[in-house]
Amino acid sequence: MLMFDLGRKIRVTGNKLSDSGSSRRNLLRSIAATGIMPLVMPALDASAGALGVPTAPDDESRWAKVRAQFAFAQEHVYFNNASLGSPPLPVLNAVAAGYRAFAANPTAAKAEYFESLETAVRPTVARLLGANAGEIVLTRGTSEGLYLLANGMELQPGDEIVTTTHEHPGGLTPWLVRAERSGIVVRQVAIPSPIVSPEQPLEALSRALSPRTKVLFFCHVTRGGLIYPVKELCSLAHSKGIVSAIDGAQAVGALPVDVRELGCDLYATSLHKWTLAPAGNGALYVRADMRPRFRHPFQSSSACPCTAGARDRRAALFLSRSG
Ligand SMILES: Cc1ncc(COP(=O)(O)O)c(C=O)c1O
Repeated sequence: MLMFDLGRKIRVTGNKLSDSGSSRRNLLRSIAATGIMPLVMPALDASAGALGVPTAPDDESRWAKVRAQFAFAQEHVYFNNASLGSPPLPVLNAVAAGYRAFAANPTAAKAEYFESLETAVRPTVARLLGANAGEIVLTRGTSEGLYLLANGMELQPGDEIVTTTHEHPGGLTPWLVRAERSGIVVRQVAIPSPIVSPEQPLEALSRALSPRTKVLFFCHVTRGGLIYPVKELCSLAHSKGIVSAIDGAQAVGALPVDVRELGCDLYATSLHKWTLAPAGNGALYVRADMRPRFRHPFQSSSACPCTAGARDRRAALFLSRSG
């Protein structure tokens, strides 16, 4: 974890943050670029509107008010959203109020909870990613989305997954486990680090594709901060009838991400990193036309001996029938 004592000069040379001024400017630019401001700002309390967003790096009084919106330990400056972000206090308070409501009247709170998933959470996450609500599966983080993704694809023994040597264990392991259990083949293409141009992974991965390849899987942004040419790779996969599956853990909230614009089939991400959602939140995008080739382990069944209402609520948590 990267934590710095307050009062010490902040110097993170690896990613060009050499002083607090430029880091704040970059932060503001990246927040504006993600388009998440309209999602984040309503969650901040009424005083946030009055304090405004600091426009200058040395606007210390406004930065102090922004900082007061978070529960960070006073003696630290936190820099590790790549691992886990810290939600603003109004979000923490809303989570605490939610647990209190469950304790006060469990069945009523449960009904409200399911309704809010459908009417607020899935549509908001869908808007963030440029998808339809019915294409969003709510998960507990990227790792869970990647597990569902690797296990949900319909594949036969001998089918090949082409991926890279840059993958996070959370992305690679589910494919390796599936290979052990069901005889698919995982082919890891060596990509140098750092990559010198977007063409480098594009050419290396293009050479590795064969008629046996059914899925092309890679990170949008690697743990080391390399940005892959997602749109070009998805287009390449599409031209060969190959499914494109992406680990977007380090992209959403840090970069603008529009899954339709990228042209990907499956995209797993975290919401508890750069978007500052509470810990244990993520999403998996399953493009609507992938549905016939994708199975969710908890998908609802019409043979289920539960009421239609309960079936619908269960399906809503995963993939809605409305697509
Ligand atoms: C590239 C990448 N993929 C997947 C993950 C796992 O994400 P999560 O902690 O949300 O499961 C991480 C976490 O750091 C990551 O950097």
